[in-house]
Amino acid sequence: MEEKRKFRTAVITSSDSGYRGEREDLSGPAIEEILLANGEYEVVQKTVLPDDYAMLKACMEKICDEGSADLILTTGGTGFSPRDIMPEVTTEICERMVPGIPEAMRAYSMTITNRAMLSRAAAGIRKNTLIINMPGSPKAVKESLTYILPALSHGLEILLSMTANCAR
Ligand code: MTE
Repeated sequence: MEEKRKFRTAVITSSDSGYRGEREDLSGPAIEEILLANGEYEVVQKTVLPDDYAMLKACMEKICDEGSADLILTTGGTGFSPRDIMPEVTTEICERMVPGIPEAMRAYSMTITNRAMLSRAAAGIRKNTLIINMPGSPKAVKESLTYILPALSHGLEILLSMTANCAR
């Protein structure tokens, strides 16, 4: 039987201090570790950028428009700081929004900390790439990604026309 291809994933960390090298990026590696342990994903790109609208937009648009990844997972920039603009960038570049994913992350995360309500994370689709924002801390990333991962492959399979039906 032909082996199923892995979902190509780009991991983007949005962090001014991470970009300047003043703080080690622990959240990007946490995402990669969870994806590789799952087995259905490969990480094709890891990028640390500042909380800069134009840079984040250009980077994510390029990935989607070149079709170099099936999934973009972002970490950071979803909170209330004036520099937190990841949801705005994501909303601007996506053609179709996927509100259920951040809703699910927040609903589950609220069972852990009521500060989960402070993440403005968004998710959506541009061309054949799904973009999902996650909060910035490694703890939040682990909690959020672990929760959504079991349902994610089904959505990606439909997006990539690897399956047409939702029957279990
Ligand atoms: N979600 C989970 N699962 N666990 C957390 O610890 N922290 C919250 C929230 N979401 C958290 C979480 C906090 S404290 C903030 S301020 C927001 O995510 C936004 O984080 P960001 O600005 O790093 O994106």
